[in-house]
Amino acid sequence: GVPVEVDLAPIPEGGNVKVFWRGKPIYVRHRTKEEIAAADNVDISSLRDPQTDAERVKKGDEQWLIVIGICTHLGCIPLINEGPYHGWFCPCHGSVYDTSGRIRQGPAPLNLAVPPYSFESASKIIIG
Ligand code: FES
Repeated sequence: GVPVEVDLAPIPEGGNVKVFWRGKPIYVRHRTKEEIAAADNVDISSLRDPQTDAERVKKGDEQWLIVIGICTHLGCIPLINEGPYHGWFCPCHGSVYDTSGRIRQGPAPLNLAVPPYSFESASKIIIG
């Protein structure tokens, strides 16, 4: 697949953009301090798919969360900023993800996947 470049500069804190990579929707989310704190403040042993928030973002760039927008249950596209954890909500069967994209409620078995990406500069990432 062709790598996809995303300019982060226009995405305000609290905002996001959706791009496509290998035909898959990718959410690029500029998290607020509150969203990062909520993602950090979790006992990961309580999680279905235990991962720390730090494992899902790049150190020093914790405000940027990049996930594949495909529900790990049966593949619907979850809605961002929805649901009780204000992460994602999948309207198909009610899976709830947190502000780290981790599964918290509903039938999905796994966290939203993080695609391979790297920072090209402070305000640009390359996905793929
Ligand atoms: Fe998302 Fe079933 S496809 S909850």
